Amino acid sequence: MQKHFFLETFGCQMNVVDSEQIVDLLRAIDYLPVDRPEAADLILLNTCAIRDKAERKVYGHLGRYKPLKAAKPGLILGVGGCVAQQQGEKLLKDLPYLDLVFGTHNVHRLPELVQAAESRRKRGHAVEFLDRETRLRLFPRRSGGEAVTRFVTVMQGCDNFCSYCVVPLVRGREISRPSGDILDEIRELAAAGVREVTLIGQNVNSYGVGLPGELSFARLLTEVEGIDGIARIRFTTSHPKDLSDELIDCFGSLKKLCNHIHLPVQSGSDRILRLMNRGYSRAQYLDRARRLRQARPDIRLTSDIIVGFPGETEEDFADTLHLVEEVRYADIFSFIYSPRSGTAAATLEDPSTAGERQARFDRLLKVQEEISRDWRERDAGATLEVLVEGESRQGQGQLFGRTTWNRIVNFAGSRELIGQIVPVRVGRVYRNSHLGRLIAD
Ligand code: 5AD
Ligand code: SF4
Repeated sequence: MQKHFFLETFGCQMNVVDSEQIVDLLRAIDYLPVDRPEAADLILLNTCAIRDKAERKVYGHLGRYKPLKAAKPGLILGVGGCVAQQQGEKLLKDLPYLDLVFGTHNVHRLPELVQAAESRRKRGHAVEFLDRETRLRLFPRRSGGEAVTRFVTVMQGCDNFCSYCVVPLVRGREISRPSGDILDEIRELAAAGVREVTLIGQNVNSYGVGLPGELSFARLLTEVEGIDGIARIRFTTSHPKDLSDELIDCFGSLKKLCNHIHLPVQSGSDRILRLMNRGYSRAQYLDRARRLRQARPDIRLTSDIIVGFPGETEEDFADTLHLVEEVRYADIFSFIYSPRSGTAAATLEDPSTAGERQARFDRLLKVQEEISRDWRERDAGATLEVLVEGESRQGQGQLFGRTTWNRIVNFAGSRELIGQIVPVRVGRVYRNSHLGRLIAD
């Protein structure tokens, strides 16, 4: 009888790529995907531990699947990703209805764990970190399929140890993938019809560290620019401290590089940036933002900001607000600080109250919302180049694509346009997307 799996993915692009690999591995052992947990013989959660809220969500979902297991005794329930990495075997102890746990370095072991659970009803876990050689060998590599856009992993892990961040603990040490492999993969993707690649890593700017003689990240981008068929290049995430002049210059010289950079600032206060162990000052950040705009005048910046880091004063927070007003981000992702066990900041005292932190968060959102609206409205009435990614959820005859600034545009058009860059005149602008009309060439 055909076996089915239901996979739920939380968190960042790293997990998205890992989940793509999970799908391939499960197909290879005769499981097909379904979109309802009730229809599955295997339910997997690929989890995120970045903040407490993300972690709690995992336990919430697991609790919901528990009764399914009572109804269908053969059902296998597994957890992977960052929560699995951090909790390990403890998850199996705490949750008797769970069958398997696999960490961030152990996606390749999933088939073996599933088969052990199937045949011997044996519960298992695999959460050990791997050595460099093994990790290099196991770097996720994906085929193009039907896709127009693809993430390509250039590095994994993080060695920065920002004081609030759990990533170095759950993703392990930084490791770069040889450029030859990356470029081969992108050539294959291009041959399969992929038009846009996003080079991903926790900190792409430290690409090449530990690989002597390897290309710099800027050189790597230049090589990608030369690959026929690829029309657009993006990358994420870049750490402001390592944003080199050479990389800034790429925005002047590489036509395929999109007009967008996600450059998380986290805070506008020098005192807090030091406590966060970010390795740059407010002035250095602002200088890099200015130079990016010199290299590419219509570039749009986005950012991540943490509100309520332990000891953040009203003055520190005002510095963040002013920085946001000065940079004028197209958008920000803001988060209330969430202590993560094992990180340096987890032990810091914090005199502020939850109410104060929430009030600051709301003030920041309000300031940014006006700036975001201003950027969106600049697009209204303009004819923009849109890379068509697929049929829109809006329904029949509706397509969606993205502008170079990474905004979604919905418009009417025929399926043949998928994969092409077409001119679309933006009519209405909404909070999360634009509605436009295709302009005939
Ligand atoms: N609390 C709140 N936000 C956090 N981030 C990372 N760690 C924490 C934490 N402990 C945010 C940072 C990062 C984004 C992915 O998540 O802003 O850039
Ligand atoms: Fe976390 Fe800092 Fe590494 Fe980003 S650079 S993953 S915020 S430790």
